[in-house]
Amino acid sequence: MSIFSSVELAPADPILGLTEQFLADASTQKVNLGVGVYQDETGRVPLLECVRRAETEITPAPRPYLPIVGLPAYTGAVRELVFGADSPAVAEGRVTTVQTLSGTGALKVGADLLRAVTAAERVLISDPSWENHRALFTRAGFQVGTYAYYTPQGVAFDRLLADLRAAAPGTVVVLHACCHNPTGFDLTPAQWDQVVALTAERDLVPFVDMAYQGFAAGLVPDAAAIARFAASGRPFLAATSFSKSMGLYGERVGALSIVTASPDEAARVASQVKIAIRTNYSSPPTHGAAVAARILTDPSLRAMWDAELTGMRDRIRQMRRALADALVAAGFRGDVSFATAQTGMFSYTGLSAEQMIRLRSEFGVYGTDRGRICVAALNPANVGTVAAAMAAVS
Ligand code: LMR
Repeated sequence: MSIFSSVELAPADPILGLTEQFLADASTQKVNLGVGVYQDETGRVPLLECVRRAETEITPAPRPYLPIVGLPAYTGAVRELVFGADSPAVAEGRVTTVQTLSGTGALKVGADLLRAVTAAERVLISDPSWENHRALFTRAGFQVGTYAYYTPQGVAFDRLLADLRAAAPGTVVVLHACCHNPTGFDLTPAQWDQVVALTAERDLVPFVDMAYQGFAAGLVPDAAAIARFAASGRPFLAATSFSKSMGLYGERVGALSIVTASPDEAARVASQVKIAIRTNYSSPPTHGAAVAARILTDPSLRAMWDAELTGMRDRIRQMRRALADALVAAGFRGDVSFATAQTGMFSYTGLSAEQMIRLRSEFGVYGTDRGRICVAALNPANVGTVAAAMAAVS
């Protein structure tokens, strides 16, 4: 008799499971637009030049444990990147930033912290949201609900406000800072102002997920929502990541920032976040954080990173335009404006699960069942094939 005898077979992960399926697909024409990974115009995941140089400049050194909260040079530089060099919240000692296993690790450590030391038990995520948000917060012990977010024309803002207004005080609200995953529709600055004001009025707890800083308009404008929440003086959390922006996916380089009401509160929260980390994975890994810290603190590497990010952003925009043109040329039955109206790595095509399954099985084009494709994996050689396949199932 095994303790595992009644364990059920879990469904594959809706995003990473697609990569497994893609790798097992023998088709030579296959295109993986499932997972959010940037690829260059030759279809490769690039090693950024700033990363390559930083790695050559880091002297090989022994690897003792890092502190529980991570590499100090890294967390300091990340805090400045995320909140800005002149952030009053940082200057007042109200912000605690800890190194985490990328953005997912930041969300999990934040979720565990909130469950352990606050009364929060309900989370609202956008409808739709990143597939893992619901799973992660559910596993952490939260009840997960949704707030309205999407229409094919853009953000369902009035319904979003109504849902937040109806939320009970203390509800955690997960918001995407930029490049909304999966829809690609972001809030305008004026809409962010309203959301910041409403979360304060309703005493909600914003948890801002910023996995794509630099992929919408640039490093500073993409963090504007975080600056707005920080300026409100109210507590919130922010999860950030260098997976996409530095191409450090496999290094798991991220951070959780917790903004509190006072330095005293920050010290107590910092002591508790250490427990959340220690009981998950003890302390974070060294290499990726050392690379990121080097890039963030060395002026010439930092300038190189900015330029490389701009290059990735521009290439995605070109591929959005190319996709829209190719869809029209291929006779796609439907509105193609989603391709150019949306921002960031993803487009929400409006295709149904049935159509997405046909795309995979008949054409080897992999996107999620919810109709999301990673436009950052398109290139001049595959965009025509993808558009023709989408037109065929439309
Ligand atoms: C995605 O949404 O595809 C990425 O954030 C990768 C992931 O972990 O799901």
